[in-house]
Amino acid sequence: MRSPCRVLTRVGAALRLSGHALHGRPPRVYGIHDRQASQCSKPYYITTPIFYVNASPHIGHVYSAVTADCLHRYKLLKGYNSRFATGTDEHGLKIQQAASNAGKEPLSFCTEISESFKHVFQRCSISYTDYIRTTEQRHTRAVEDFWMVLQSKGFLYKGTYEGWYSTPDESFLTPAQVTDGTDSEGRRIKVSSESGHKVEWMKEDNYMFRLSDFRTEVLRWLRSNPKVIRPVKFHDLVLQWLEDDDIPDLSVSRQKSRLQWGIPVPGDPEQTIYVWLDALVNYLTVVGYPQNHAQWWTAVHHVVGKDILKFHAIYWPAFLMAAGLPLPRMIYVHSHWTVEGKKMSKSLGNVINPLDAIEKFSADGLRYFLLRQGVPDSDCDYYDDKVVKVCNSELADALGGLLNRCTAPSLNPAQLYPRFSNTCFPKEENCGKAVSDDYRMMEAVSALPVVVERHFENLNIYKALEAISACVRLTNRFVQRHAPWKLDRKEDQQWLDTILHVSLECLRMYGILLQPVVPGLAHKILSRLGVAPEERSWDSLNFLRRYEGGDCVLEGRALGPDLGVLFGRLERSPVKRKTPKMATTQDEGKS
Ligand code: MSP
Repeated sequence: MRSPCRVLTRVGAALRLSGHALHGRPPRVYGIHDRQASQCSKPYYITTPIFYVNASPHIGHVYSAVTADCLHRYKLLKGYNSRFATGTDEHGLKIQQAASNAGKEPLSFCTEISESFKHVFQRCSISYTDYIRTTEQRHTRAVEDFWMVLQSKGFLYKGTYEGWYSTPDESFLTPAQVTDGTDSEGRRIKVSSESGHKVEWMKEDNYMFRLSDFRTEVLRWLRSNPKVIRPVKFHDLVLQWLEDDDIPDLSVSRQKSRLQWGIPVPGDPEQTIYVWLDALVNYLTVVGYPQNHAQWWTAVHHVVGKDILKFHAIYWPAFLMAAGLPLPRMIYVHSHWTVEGKKMSKSLGNVINPLDAIEKFSADGLRYFLLRQGVPDSDCDYYDDKVVKVCNSELADALGGLLNRCTAPSLNPAQLYPRFSNTCFPKEENCGKAVSDDYRMMEAVSALPVVVERHFENLNIYKALEAISACVRLTNRFVQRHAPWKLDRKEDQQWLDTILHVSLECLRMYGILLQPVVPGLAHKILSRLGVAPEERSWDSLNFLRRYEGGDCVLEGRALGPDLGVLFGRLERSPVKRKTPKMATTQDEGKS
């Protein structure tokens, strides 16, 4: 028997999610359910990288955020007490220069762009629970404290850094990481071999962190936790860096004369803390460091793009080891989006503004495309026609068509959740009206939650969506095979109801499973089926209980009133549409 506490947890999670889908903004006020949930369910803490405020948000940023949002929503469905942090990275030379180029005072420059990230996230249904800006007081206090711990433990020393620095990457590079390149005017310059960004030679007195002391320990951590960085390709890459490359001590401050826009080194105002040390500590600030952070900190999972792997998989674990804090539970790494085969860049003018994409495809359309096509292992290419194609075939036609057909008033005039008949669909094959392919479909849909769970846990969200999409196709074939619109109402009513019951049960599964990916569409599906908010958690994935001889609480219940199409077909031409088309009639019977 479930404990009442467990039930409340699920209710809290479902309410939080459905409220979100309805209002499209992060829940800020935690109600009674949430408080009860937080007392008795397992903590999960997921983060995005904090975004630089030197430029406006683009779809690459949104991809990091949507990935983390999906995992957060998934964990809530599973009954975890999940916390999801995102925010903006506002200090450092790069931001100092961007503000100065814009002729603005740094803080108001940062506030403007930080607000634009918040706005994009709200439009994209990013349900973060915490938003952090590194210019906040609480963060300064956390960074100062963290610094003093490193210092008191003897891991910082005053030294001279002489070597390469890339301002666009805010990164120190060894000679092996630098190569020849040319600038926009064809002049020969030195660039980072990884990012292609310009590097400069610098020589400065500053504070150094004893990174080299941690090489063996970080290696040991990675070797004894072979799944801590996913996909495994990136785990292997970090191992290779640590095994092959020189890991020198790291400069963790800059002279104030060069960098004013940052947090001063405690006790030495002539030095400013290195922006990556400052930025990484944001993950601790969010959970209240240096006080009461332990419960959340041990549940931390990071989502990062491949370009910032070194900072999260080498520097960050080393800093945490030095400070005596637990290491991340998981680092999920994703690759990058290119646009029509080219790197996204301001100079090429091919940066995709997420607000434009949302206007054309809706938030759910964009989210579905990014998560369906985004393969963490390798770079993915974005172009508008591909979004149209994926959304039309999988959301509008396959899923929307299935929902429309199976809830059509012409097939179901009473608009009640139809009844299942064991005589028509018995446990033994060849004894009723169901045919062998129907049983195969049923097996595939029953197994779907386990398949989806495995893929979500491994950050293979695209594989989870592939599996759901394959089942949707099977269900469409099931409906097509039995063509309920051709059945005789008097003689075949039981079989007609059974076909519809099975189809709606399939749709209920897809609706529940799709909530982390397309919360708005999932809400529409489940509401149309009459599924209440507290019946939408992972525990409710009890497919076709009537077949097993159990009860189905939905049988006989009124369907939801919204007869509109689930997802209006998108145009291929670059015509902008504000909202998906609404149908006025049902298109039952169409394939
Ligand atoms: N501020 C640092 C992160 C500090 S975290 C302690 C930073 N910011 S960023 O704005 O440049 O990048 C934020 C995220 O966006 C990273 O995960 C990065 O990989 C991701 N992306 C930036 N461009 C991208 C694409 N073209 N495609 C996919 N993701 C990309 O790095």
